Amino acid sequence: MLESLKKIQNPFIRSVTAAATVGSVLTLVAALVIGVINGKDKSVYRFGTYSSLLGIGCGAVFGLVFTSHKQSTQDISYQQDDQTISNNKIWKDWRRFVVVRKVKESEEITSFYLQPEDKGNIPNFQPGQFLTINLDIPGQNKPVIRTYSLSDYPEICDYYRLSIKREGVPNGLDVPPGIASNFMHDHIHEGSVILVKPPNGKFVLDLQKSLPAVLISNGVGITPMLSMAKAVTQLNPKRPIWFVHGARNGKFHAFRHEIAELAQKNPNLHLHFRYSRPTPEDEGHFQSVGYVDTALIKELVEQEAEYFLCGSPLFMQSIIEGLKESGVPDDRVFFESFGKPMKVVFNSQHQTVTVGERIEEAEIVFTKSGKTINWKQEDGNILDFAEANEIYPPFSCRVGICGTCMCKIYSGEIAYQEEPTAKIEEGSVLICISQPKSSRVVLDI
Ligand SMILES: Cc1cc2nc3c(=O)[nH]c(=O)nc-3n(C[C@H](O)[C@H](O)[C@H](O)COP(=O)(O)OP(=O)(O)OC[C@H]3O[C@@H](n4cnc5c(N)ncnc54)[C@H](O)[C@@H]3O)c2cc1C
Ligand code: FES
Repeated sequence: MLESLKKIQNPFIRSVTAAATVGSVLTLVAALVIGVINGKDKSVYRFGTYSSLLGIGCGAVFGLVFTSHKQSTQDISYQQDDQTISNNKIWKDWRRFVVVRKVKESEEITSFYLQPEDKGNIPNFQPGQFLTINLDIPGQNKPVIRTYSLSDYPEICDYYRLSIKREGVPNGLDVPPGIASNFMHDHIHEGSVILVKPPNGKFVLDLQKSLPAVLISNGVGITPMLSMAKAVTQLNPKRPIWFVHGARNGKFHAFRHEIAELAQKNPNLHLHFRYSRPTPEDEGHFQSVGYVDTALIKELVEQEAEYFLCGSPLFMQSIIEGLKESGVPDDRVFFESFGKPMKVVFNSQHQTVTVGERIEEAEIVFTKSGKTINWKQEDGNILDFAEANEIYPPFSCRVGICGTCMCKIYSGEIAYQEEPTAKIEEGSVLICISQPKSSRVVLDI
């Protein structure tokens, strides 16, 4: 009963419910007592009435106290973050999440549904955002931290879904396969617990806008696009959406049915699946053969629109260049790279390369590691340089998106090699995309 009471958010309703429940129980008990003792004695009736009233009063007070107790507990454990939608409480740092469902979506992609182990609330997120996860993998000398886009947009946000592609060994290289993605596929099952940071990221679709949106992806780049298409279908269904996706064939095409079902609900959602190597079983499930390119986009979308891109670097590079050549303004194109940074061709505020003044040499003091090492231009960014010198700071995206590599800078200056996407705290720097700008830099690493 207490559990049911806990679920009532409104303090007034909770108080009335508690009052009614306790009052009814006491009335019932009093009636029994009256029946057993002496049904005709007036003082016994008075006793019955007073105890019922007392029960109602106690119940009401208990309901209120229970409410304020619950709220103060939440206030301690969660911290408000102005980036998230109002009324949602957000946690800080790592929180334990249980994998409640694991679903194979394609040959390479598997989804993981996550709920907090503490059974508390989780904040809603903006479509396109990601989660950062922390895995304790045997054989790795430190936690493995990675970022994954939220691939769903539930009507009631009581779980998060990540959809992860198993990263194999790149052609022609003699290196190990992807650490985190293979661990997730092989060793994380329903019931497993992983550490998770709150939703984050600036690659988001503004749900207030009415301008048509074109969501272009290939491979696992489909994950943020699916979340965006679902969010628009729920919250702004009049907004025209083109969902253009490239895959090898149906076996490698995750969420084909999920998106097709969505399009049945939303007449303003237009789908185009292009397969590079379709099989006979794919007949009727795709619209064209080849690779998604600008010519296809132009053919499909003849009106003004916003473009969202996520996929392999070369794919995005060619489409971004094509859109630019077609006269699409910089501020209408948004993209997210899951891997290495792309050569930036657009100059909008959030995508500009801002290489600071270059210096050729510098001394970097890594205070926590107790090392002072001379850095040269050819050593690259500070994260690469640290690793080359057996210092291993945490990282995930290595492209300035996730904020995992952020550290305090005690003195000196750094120059960013490209515009950071992550929100940077005052007095901190992202070392994965920066290099020294002064002759001495002191970092909290
Ligand atoms: C914002 C964001 C969102 C993302 N969303 C998703 C998502 O929704 N789904 C998803 O699947 N991924 C997503 N990613 C990518 C994800 O974060 C991981 O980068 C990805 O899963 C690979 O991690 P891993 O540990 O498996 O591979 P890693 O161990 O990091 O290896 C990556 C690749 O490099 C190869 N490799 C290993 N050593 C070397 C070497 N010495 N030289 C060259 N190559 C080497 C590996 O074989 C592998 O193919 C996202 C990334 C970002 C930044
Ligand atoms: S590792 Fe993601 S911002 Fe540096």
